[in-house]
Amino acid sequence: RAKRPAGAPDKKIARPVTKVGVIGAGLMASQFALLFLRRLQVPVVITDIDQARVDKGLDYIRGEIATLLSKGRIVRDEANRLNALLTGTTNRADFADCDWVIEAVFEELGVKQEVFGDIENYVSPEAVLATNTSSLSVEQIGAKLKNPERLVGFHFFNPVAVMPLIEVVKTPATNDETLSTAMVTAAKLKKNAVITRDTPGFVVNRILAKVLGEAMHAVDTGTSFETVDAAVKPFGLPMTPFVLLELVGLKVGAHVLDTHHSAFPDRFFDSRSLHELADLGRIYEKDGKGNIKGVDKAALKIV
Ligand code: 3HC
Repeated sequence: RAKRPAGAPDKKIARPVTKVGVIGAGLMASQFALLFLRRLQVPVVITDIDQARVDKGLDYIRGEIATLLSKGRIVRDEANRLNALLTGTTNRADFADCDWVIEAVFEELGVKQEVFGDIENYVSPEAVLATNTSSLSVEQIGAKLKNPERLVGFHFFNPVAVMPLIEVVKTPATNDETLSTAMVTAAKLKKNAVITRDTPGFVVNRILAKVLGEAMHAVDTGTSFETVDAAVKPFGLPMTPFVLLELVGLKVGAHVLDTHHSAFPDRFFDSRSLHELADLGRIYEKDGKGNIKGVDKAALKIV
């Protein structure tokens, strides 16, 4: 018999997940909304602050369903069923019958607290609430909850369809039913789940922040982007630090570095220069031969 993962409660106490609510319709949220649809085959409703954002998320998910169909990964009937199970709304009241609600809104504590404080008015007290935060404290995110025992961190990695891990973050308040539901849900999504402590960056981002922060610091102290990139390439990483930063999103990356720098100022660099580049929207340009060239900050008048 398979051994229970470290710290995981009995899966028999997991609650059923019959409808999923996704708050935030950005790229990360849309990627995992698709995963919930495909692996759980239950209704999935997505929401955001306006209809245009909701429509963009719906278009992305429908486009990915069409791609799965064209690659022969799913058949026409399944594509139709997944499209029928997917809805979008700007009204959080439509989450009333969701028993699993997960958010991937802007990485700001106050925004996430507002989202959970409000959603609790619509869902049942047993519904599991999950946050995909990259590095904020899950316990603090749930500070305004009446039932913080049903809050858990459920942290995906980019690209969601490919990366095999979910970090399940347990706060001191998270109860066994919630943790068990999270572990069983992760298994249904066909991901490996690890239970982590509620510490800044959990496990993976704590380590990644070190690598990405050091790469940015090298640039800030006079080494060129192309030198850092070329130096790191032979180490066999699937992506070099700057390419990875663009994949996760420069603003998300900057927030991850901010969280680590505030928590451990003597161990992590600040992210000022990454914020500047995030405002520009890019770090580097490609030279067409698989190499990168740093954007010229001086020419762009930001230094
Ligand atoms: N979205 C969806 N699918 C993608 C994708 C994307 N952005 N990028 C690649 N894929 C899919 C491809 O479609 C392909 O699927 P297929 O076999 O069904 O056609 C499959 O992945 C492999 O693609 P490639 O052949 O292009 O594969 P590569 O060998 O170049 O690998 C990679 C691509 C998997 C993205 C690899 O470069 C990698 O592992 N990179 C590291 C990613 C990483 O470290 N992610 C963690 C970031 S940290 C994070 O997200 C946490 C956050 O809190 C900050």
